[in-house]
Amino acid sequence: MQGSANLNLMIKAARKAGRSLVKDFREVENLQVSVKGAGDFVSRADLASERMIRAELMGARPTYGWLGEESEPVAGTDPTRRWIVDPLDGTTNFLHGLPHWAISIALEHKGEIVAGVVFDAAKDEMFVAEKGVGAFMNDRRIRVSGRRHLHEAIFATGVPYGAKRTLPATLKDLARLMPTCAGVRRWGAAALDLAYVATGRYDGFWERELNPWDMAAGLVLVREAGGMVSGLREGSDILESGAVIAANAEIYQPFTEILRAD
Ligand code: IPD
Ligand code: CA
Ligand code: CA
Repeated sequence: MQGSANLNLMIKAARKAGRSLVKDFREVENLQVSVKGAGDFVSRADLASERMIRAELMGARPTYGWLGEESEPVAGTDPTRRWIVDPLDGTTNFLHGLPHWAISIALEHKGEIVAGVVFDAAKDEMFVAEKGVGAFMNDRRIRVSGRRHLHEAIFATGVPYGAKRTLPATLKDLARLMPTCAGVRRWGAAALDLAYVATGRYDGFWERELNPWDMAAGLVLVREAGGMVSGLREGSDILESGAVIAANAEIYQPFTEILRAD
């Protein structure tokens, strides 16, 4: 694909952080067996990833704003543009040696996400999208699934660490949804959940309490792959509310009705 200079910069930053995280991930396997465990090591890997991405992006675009999970936000002298970054999504998987985690980098312009990169470095799958250009995985165009019926659809969701506030509501969602569909997965990396909706591996995804960096890049991926995204509550702003629904255009309506039937 012919991406913009910004998209190429995002891909470069994701690859650089990805190389470092893959090395650290191998090390985690050794640390699993130690008494101290891998907790501190993983937090350092996470911070190092953010430092690398921040240096790359803010070095090249010093006027843009910054919102990253692991460092202080920056307003930016250009108030219209902001990077939104999760340097390691799926931390619990990473810590447990499960190869299902990613780097998520998005660019927001005037309140809208215009480019997104989700890099699954362990599987070497690079998901990218740019507004008006389309969505791609490893340079191949991707589309949301063509499934039209709930009974053949697979959905994904997430229940955050701790999850005291949202667990009851998510359990109710599951009780309403599961009898109607082919299955629900809970893999622990929201950025990848959205990327998988964009590739058609999942037919839809919802989650009740996310941060902007978990989903910003995934939202543009789903949209550019022909899917629908919205807030869980009708009319709500996705990034502000943190509660999201994403699905292919056919499944979106019945899926949303079930989730909003609470
Ligand atoms: C988490 C993952 C998980 C989701 C949580 C997030 P982290 O991000 O995306 O799937 O359920 O809400 O916080 O902590 O691994 O970056
Ligand atoms: Ca995250
Ligand atoms: Ca994270």
